[in-house]
Amino acid sequence: MNVLIEQINTLRKERDAVILCHNYQRREMQDIADYLGDSLGLSQKASELDAEVIVFCGVDFMAESAAILCPEKTVLLPQLCAQCPMAAMITPDKLRSLKAKHPDAAVVCYVNTSASVKAESDICCTSSNVINVVNSVDSDEIIFVPDKNLALYAAAHSDKTIIPFDGYCPTHHQILESDMLLAKEKYPEAEVLVHPECRPEVIALADHVFSTDGMVKYVKSTVCDEFIVATENGLVYRLNRENPGKIFYLASSNIVCPAMKMISLQDIVDALEKNQYVVSVPEEIRVRAKKALDAMINVGRNG
Ligand code: 13P
Ligand code: SF4
Repeated sequence: MNVLIEQINTLRKERDAVILCHNYQRREMQDIADYLGDSLGLSQKASELDAEVIVFCGVDFMAESAAILCPEKTVLLPQLCAQCPMAAMITPDKLRSLKAKHPDAAVVCYVNTSASVKAESDICCTSSNVINVVNSVDSDEIIFVPDKNLALYAAAHSDKTIIPFDGYCPTHHQILESDMLLAKEKYPEAEVLVHPECRPEVIALADHVFSTDGMVKYVKSTVCDEFIVATENGLVYRLNRENPGKIFYLASSNIVCPAMKMISLQDIVDALEKNQYVVSVPEEIRVRAKKALDAMINVGRNG
């Protein structure tokens, strides 16, 4: 067995650690994960776990969500530079000025945000529960941050007036309608699975719109055996591994999130040996952010 994997196995026992891994991580991380999942699944797992240490193979906001939900555990993000560029687009100040302009609106924030932005929000959502979350909110007017594509997708499935912030995921936003049309022409038998962080004109070409775990579940449940997948390439590794005999085509050639590819096996060894990098959130912000995450966890998934 690979020496690094042996070291990780020894260290995770010694430290009572659990490795949570997002579906976009590099294959080596997916292979050694205790739990692999989407943003909602991993947040829920973090809140249920008994372990003393959580090693989060994902990006900053995911590790922060685990720290918000489990303040008694040590949460480690093995690479400090694993930072989601979309989460960085919205700041508490920008959100406060939107709130001042729309004082009657409720705030729904995508989980891809900092703890301080969550603390300014009424409820969080992920790509798997966005429609249920938006429809669960009392107010008719909703400020939605930071992803404008996800906001438009939610608006199309709700009677609420959605006020989107102008953020986007650079990885999903780069997938164009022309890429999709080309892929559909090349693979006419394939079903088209699209992540809701994509542009509306890309979503319009989907057979199904799902979070990453939604795609994993759907592919297992259907008799169809050929798919065009419009999301980050890490998911295709998982889909191939879990569905031998089925074929997956990425919607365009290079759908990669650089932030999701920062963590290596060596970083996990270093994280467990040196207890780095500990993610913590100031208590006053944590308590307010937790309210928004708890409100979300009480609402079910929709895909
Ligand atoms: P999900 O895995 O929750 O669909 O999220 C996608 C994503 O972009 C996370 O950063
Ligand atoms: Fe952020 Fe997009 Fe990367 Fe997800 S895929 S971490 S939203 S940049």
